[in-house]
Amino acid sequence: MTDSKVPSPAGIPDDVPTSARAYGWLLGGKDNYEVDRRFIKAQLEHFPAGLDITRQNRLFLYRAVRHLTLEAGIRQFIDMGCGLPTDNNVHQVAQGLVPDARVVYVDIDPVVLAHGRALLADNATTTVINADMRDQEEILEHEDVRRLIDFDEPVGVLFLSVGHHLPDEFEPRRVLTTILDRSAPGSHLTFSQVVCEDPEEGALMTERVTAAGIPWQTRTPAEVDRLFDGLEPVEPGLVNLAEWRPMDLQPPLPPVPAEIAQYEGASKTNPKVYEYGGVLRKP
Ligand SMILES: C[S@@+](CC[C@H](N)C(=O)[O-])C[C@H]1O[C@@H](n2cnc3c(N)ncnc32)[C@H](O)[C@@H]1O
Repeated sequence: MTDSKVPSPAGIPDDVPTSARAYGWLLGGKDNYEVDRRFIKAQLEHFPAGLDITRQNRLFLYRAVRHLTLEAGIRQFIDMGCGLPTDNNVHQVAQGLVPDARVVYVDIDPVVLAHGRALLADNATTTVINADMRDQEEILEHEDVRRLIDFDEPVGVLFLSVGHHLPDEFEPRRVLTTILDRSAPGSHLTFSQVVCEDPEEGALMTERVTAAGIPWQTRTPAEVDRLFDGLEPVEPGLVNLAEWRPMDLQPPLPPVPAEIAQYEGASKTNPKVYEYGGVLRKP
């Protein structure tokens, strides 16, 4: 799929970028088209920090799932907007620590479903479903969710690097909290999204990404905080993900593609743009 001449699977667009494939390339993934790589290169020219912050988000995923599994006692996870599989996906981190952990992956992109099914063919306690995370009721009723998730026990719901795909007109508060509202106390919500401390620069980013056909809203950190009134952030709260319980040693990500290697380290030059988030607990 790395050659734009390779035909796309039926029904999957290869003439417009998709978030899953473009984001996967930033993480060193191979399942993308020329249109996705062109889109990323154009974005990085304007927002060079995009490479670093994407990778910081994925490193946060590992630390957050470790925390949820080992310290919060979570044994069941729903990963919304899970993206294309790479190294250390949620089920691999969780089941590596607690073999009986159960995971449902959810993504709107059919490519994610195809790859996820191949990866999970032999795993009875992990599945991937193709759904729009805005359709929370449909997800709750899905047979795989009902089979693997017991809402009378604490659930870990993850919305990682997807908050920006929930602009205000998509009712983000409802989308983010529906499952938590129906789940046992002690359930956790893990969240991240791209923020910009300068609202004007953030609005420009929103405009550019939306123009490429991807629903998007860059928020300020204060706008994100307002989405979570009533939930308890666990230490250190909602922060730049690079500062969320950093570990000296954690498994590395696949290497950065050579074509965009010049952007490595660029987040240091624009500290106003970063992935912001953390872990919140339902009391
Ligand atoms: C930036 S990637 C994040 C992947 C992964 N969560 C991570 O943190 O590494 C965003 C993912 O959200 C998915 N997505 C975007 N909008 C969605 C929606 N409305 N419902 C479900 N998935 C969605 C995209 O297809 C993509 O795979």
